Amino acid sequence: MKKWFAVIGDPIVHSKSPEMHNSWFQELNIDAAYLPLHVIPEQLEQAVKSLKLLGASGWNVTIPHKETIIPFLDELDETAKKMGAVNTVVRLSDGKLKGYNTDGSGFVHSLEEQVGTDHRDKKVLLIGGGGASRGIAFALKQFGYQDITITNRTVAKAQTIIYELGVGRAISLEEATESLNDFGIIIQATSAGLKSDFSLPISLDKLITGAIVADIVYNPLMTPFLEDAKKNGAVIVNGLGMFVHQGAIAFKYWLDEYPNTSSMIKKLTEQLK
Ligand code: ATR
Repeated sequence: MKKWFAVIGDPIVHSKSPEMHNSWFQELNIDAAYLPLHVIPEQLEQAVKSLKLLGASGWNVTIPHKETIIPFLDELDETAKKMGAVNTVVRLSDGKLKGYNTDGSGFVHSLEEQVGTDHRDKKVLLIGGGGASRGIAFALKQFGYQDITITNRTVAKAQTIIYELGVGRAISLEEATESLNDFGIIIQATSAGLKSDFSLPISLDKLITGAIVADIVYNPLMTPFLEDAKKNGAVIVNGLGMFVHQGAIAFKYWLDEYPNTSSMIKKLTEQLK
C-alpha cells in the first residue's frame, strides 16, 4: 500500500515541507505522498485520531501544536521529552505513535554541513530563550560543543535552559554585546526577525573576523542580522539548512534513508532569492 505522510499546523499554506518531501520521494523512487493539513488547536486530538485511523505512516508537527500534541502520543524519544516539544511523529509497527524532535539536530547538521566539524571546541553564544534556542542548546551539547553561553532579553529564561543543560552560563544582551569578541560561533535563535520587526537582538560591532554567525530565520535568506555579520567579516550560515535537515532527519526516522540535503538547499535557495 502507498505510504502517506503529512504536516499539521495552523496556518499551513506557506509550509515548504510538502514540496520538499514529495520531491525526495520522487528522487528516491519511494511510492509515498506528503500532504499539508490545516488543523486548528480545537481539533488537534481529533486530527491525531484521524491520522492514525487513516493509516498515516508519520507526520510533522508545526506551530502551534508542537507542545500540545504530546498528550495524544504513546511514546516520546529522549530529546522530545527533554524539550517538551515534538516536530515529528512516527507510527511504529505496533501502531503506537512516537514523538521526536529534529529541530535542534537539524540546526547542528546544517551548521556542520556548511562549516565542517572542526569548530566544536569554539565558544558558542546562543541568542534566545524560547523553544528554538532550547532545542539548539541540547543538540549542541549532544554533538560535543561544550562551551555554550546563552543570552536572552529575559535572562531568567536563558538561565533555565543553562540549568537544564548542565553546562555554560547565561548573560544579558548587554554583556553579550560587550564580550562578543570572546565567541567563535554566534547563533541567532530569537523570533525577532520572524515577526518582520527585524530589530537586531544584539549589536555585532565587536565581532571577531572569521567568526561563524548563524540565523534560524530563512525567509528572508539574508536577514539583517546576517547582513550585519557579513559586513563585520563573519562566515554566515542562513536558516534554510536547519529547515531542510530537520525534514531530512524526520525522513530518516520514517524511511531509514537520509535524503539529499544539498540539492534541496540549492533548489529552495533559488525560490527564496
Ligand atoms: P521559539 O519557540 O521560536 O523559540 P518563543 O518561545 O516565542 O519562540 O521565543 C521567542 C524568543 O525570541 C525569546 O527568546 C524572545 O525573548 P524573550 O524571552 O525575552 O521574550 C525572543 N525575542 C522575540 N522578539 C525579540 C526582540 N524584538 N528582541 C530580542 N529578543 C526577542
